[in-house]
Amino acid sequence: MKAPRGTRDVLPGETEKWQKIEKIARRVFSLYNYGEIRTPIFEDTSLFERSIGASTDIVEKEMYTFLDKKGRSLTLRPEGTAGVVRAYLEHKLYSRGGLEKFFYIGPFFRYERPQAGRNRQFYQVGVEAIGSDNPALDAEVIRLSLDFLNSLGLKTLQVSLNSIGCSACQPVYRNGLQEFLEKHLEELCDDCRERARRNPLRVLDCKREKCIAIVEDAPATLDFLCPSCKTHFESVRRYLDVLGTIYELSPRLVRGLDYYTRTTFEIVHSGLGAQNAVAGGGRFDRLIEEFGGKPTPAVGFAAGVDRIALIMGKGEEKSARGGNAPIVYIATAGREYLEECILLLNDLRSSGVSAEMDYDGRSLKSQFRVADKLGVRFAIILGQEGIILRDMRKGEQKEVKREEIIDGVKSCIMT
Ligand code: HAM
Repeated sequence: MKAPRGTRDVLPGETEKWQKIEKIARRVFSLYNYGEIRTPIFEDTSLFERSIGASTDIVEKEMYTFLDKKGRSLTLRPEGTAGVVRAYLEHKLYSRGGLEKFFYIGPFFRYERPQAGRNRQFYQVGVEAIGSDNPALDAEVIRLSLDFLNSLGLKTLQVSLNSIGCSACQPVYRNGLQEFLEKHLEELCDDCRERARRNPLRVLDCKREKCIAIVEDAPATLDFLCPSCKTHFESVRRYLDVLGTIYELSPRLVRGLDYYTRTTFEIVHSGLGAQNAVAGGGRFDRLIEEFGGKPTPAVGFAAGVDRIALIMGKGEEKSARGGNAPIVYIATAGREYLEECILLLNDLRSSGVSAEMDYDGRSLKSQFRVADKLGVRFAIILGQEGIILRDMRKGEQKEVKREEIIDGVKSCIMT
């Protein structure tokens, strides 16, 4: 039996890295006053069709959709924004009358062709700030995503930034782009010929070389912004400058989801191959209204945990259990000490000291090898000579009384 294609097991030794990513996400997101939200792993299919857009790759090709036993169409969530917006409306969180800030951590699902950094079950950490169109909030979300990635020690990150306009100016751009694409229909791939007609912005996301070459000359969204979107974007840029955030303008960055308005951004890392986007996000000022709420502007981003783990994995030493090694390993000189050993193990754990023992009746020598490999701080040897406490770091050992062990170990780890 093997895990399904595009999924993978994260095993002890690697999970510590994932825990670190999640821990830092929680810390950084809390610093910016985001509260955790947990939405269901599956939702009604129409939620994603209506938000991400019916003619996007995600909805057309990549959703895990199934009928439940009552014939309802459900879909494993391919992204997090739609579920957060649904929850925001369902629980009337707007009635609290201010900006609502959420973060999430969890698995997402897209039926994509698997490759390094691209899985069918992947993990994201992300935030959504709902209830303000202040450009300072766009700058904050970009700053937050960089703070998060930098806190993990990631360097060589590059921010691409764009604005794709609002309900007033985006349709004007769409027409301009469509006119341009019509002149190049023959040169586009089959999918893009169809996209040019139904959803021209999606041609800008196509990864095929011939389409990439054509759209290099396509009109830029920034040239079509209405005065208020222009002012908004200038303010986002000014605030980023104030915060000392370096970015690159990327005039055709529209991102693969239909709900974006105004600011869009992506963060890429040079250490990743073809799938080099570690994070992406932007504004979605129309989405809440489209779901039946009052017009409510919002902005957010999500980062891919699998990709971050890939980058962090490079050049990192592999230890058996990372930073989570037990503090104490109990070695025994024979089966007759087993009862005493179990009791001591239990006492150590009850008093908050992580501990492990030998279950296989190995020789003392090989038990020491195991203790060493685990990276424990102390080994306790139970045998004829009484109880020996060995400080593995200092290489010193001494005889101790049973009742002194726990306090002895605890005082050493405090210092
Ligand atoms: P997205 O760009 O589709 O945006 O995904 C965000 C990040 O998730 C990507 O930059 C990438 O690191 C990771 N990712 C996406 N697909 C995969 C995959 N198949 N395998 C591994 N990693 C993947 C969104 O999902 C938006 N909801 C972000 C957002 C939040 N916009 C506003 N608020």
